[in-house]
Amino acid sequence: GTPETRTPTGEKTGAAPITHSQRGKFLTTAQGARLQDTDHSLKAGPRGPVLLQDHHLREKIMHFDHERIPERVVHARGAGAHGVFTAYGTAEPLTVAGFLRKGRETPVFVRFSTVLGSRGSADTVRDTRGFATKFYTDEGTFDLVGNNMPVFFVQDAIKFPDIIHAAKWHPDREIPQAQSAHDTFWDFVSLHTEAQHHTIWNMSDRGIPRSYRTMEGFGVHTFRLVNDEGVTVLVKFHWKPKLGVHSLTWEEAQLTSGVDPDFHRRDLYDAIEAGAFPEWELGLQVFPDTPEETFAGIDLLDPTKIIPEELAPVQPVGKLVLNRTPTNFFAESEQVAFHLGHLPPGIDVTNDPLLQGRLFSYLDTQLTRLAGPNFGQIPINRPHAPVNDMLRDGFHQQAVHGGVAPYRPNSLDGGNPFTSPPEGAFVDVPVTVTEAPKIRANPVSFDDHFSQARLFWLSMSPVEREHIINAYTFELGKCYEQAVKERQLACLANIDPVLCAEVAAGLGLPAPAATIDLVDVDPSPALSQVGQQWPPD
Ligand code: HEM
Repeated sequence: GTPETRTPTGEKTGAAPITHSQRGKFLTTAQGARLQDTDHSLKAGPRGPVLLQDHHLREKIMHFDHERIPERVVHARGAGAHGVFTAYGTAEPLTVAGFLRKGRETPVFVRFSTVLGSRGSADTVRDTRGFATKFYTDEGTFDLVGNNMPVFFVQDAIKFPDIIHAAKWHPDREIPQAQSAHDTFWDFVSLHTEAQHHTIWNMSDRGIPRSYRTMEGFGVHTFRLVNDEGVTVLVKFHWKPKLGVHSLTWEEAQLTSGVDPDFHRRDLYDAIEAGAFPEWELGLQVFPDTPEETFAGIDLLDPTKIIPEELAPVQPVGKLVLNRTPTNFFAESEQVAFHLGHLPPGIDVTNDPLLQGRLFSYLDTQLTRLAGPNFGQIPINRPHAPVNDMLRDGFHQQAVHGGVAPYRPNSLDGGNPFTSPPEGAFVDVPVTVTEAPKIRANPVSFDDHFSQARLFWLSMSPVEREHIINAYTFELGKCYEQAVKERQLACLANIDPVLCAEVAAGLGLPAPAATIDLVDVDPSPALSQVGQQWPPD
């Protein structure tokens, strides 16, 4: 939107809003001096030399030289749009979050992305997609930083640099740009078998969405909601697209990458400009907040696991409509900075070790990407709730802070004492932190790496299975190392013998046998296990 002429503390600055658009009567320097000419450097005579004193030349070139900022270390390729979220009120019994009150409308900005490719890479590659939503709520910004797949590659954030190093381009030849067709990717996922579940989602049609408008979104992690009586539930967030979930075929994806590498970006922009506003429903899977933090025997803190929707139905809580394209790609889609720690009162984190690491990572990377600690003041990142913090100074500070005492309590700036906690404050849920030894280890439940990959495979139709077989065969076929292919085939044997045999045949290799007992997982609901209904008892 149009930047307001307000400081982050809400005071008017008096300065003109920064909305330069080349349309003014005069072209000026950045200091507002009108220019006589912007096409010729100042020279000693028409044949030069060029004079060092030409400030306009130096300012213009200096600024151009620094136009690029670092691309995101992951999710570099993306596109965003503005919209509005309207709550149904169905989540009111579960959370005090004001933006989920019935009928409440909250402005949002959503950025979709691929994970691995660089900023200029093609849209329709096989990859996970980011689905990050910034809700500008009255109680502070809420960022739901999710993906189009409900599970993640690794269970612990300490492995995130490793999976990304393995999945990005090879360090020697910097290929492939964005796809998983290479040795280090398959080396990693066959050695770190917790990644097998996410990998089969990638090899399925979910890895090549038709459009951003036809993708589901998932918060992946389990979050904790708290209501006005202090009662908590555990939840998983889901976005369900109104248009349904659709994918490209592999052949379509290949053609599109060549003919229109901006296919998804263009589709989002064109749809909104044409008034065909993309819509999603936000839904919750709701689980009782028990000390075990499991549901139907599945560990809710393990981000490589889903809870089948047959067991815990997704219950709609609101609707998202994207209805406005960005005015300026850089100012909005590029400078937006999401963070899982941006939570309104009523929504809290859990101990999922991947989530906990992410809470550190995003601030840290944005400090570099957006050059200093004040990126929260960039227009797209400004909260719509009033800000009154004690953060001061730093690179690119935009605010002119009044007062003399940025500390509390103080006796100089009318620093009134806190009521504790003040009305509407974010209060951390006082969950018990168990007395346990300090160790580097996972819960035993994290050791099951194959059963849900098998569940996924068994839930696929024949044509979807064929696509999955073809994807594994193509991607593994690009590997140079035979040992890597063989190790991945051994993993496939632990998912399903038919899948393994078909891919092995495609690669011209023998199919290994499973090393674990394959269980035919039945996701049909036992009534006693069906997810908590609303309102909770
Ligand atoms: C960026 C999702 C795990 C580090 C992103 C973005 C999304 C996302 C959607 C793009 C945000 C944007 O559009 O600007 C996820 C999901 C994860 C996950 C769903 C797992 C469930 C992790 C982990 C780490 C991490 C474990 C690190 C420990 C980053 C970083 C960025 C990023 C550094 C770039 C942020 C920026 O430059 O603004 N992630 N991510 N992510 N993610 Fe994750």
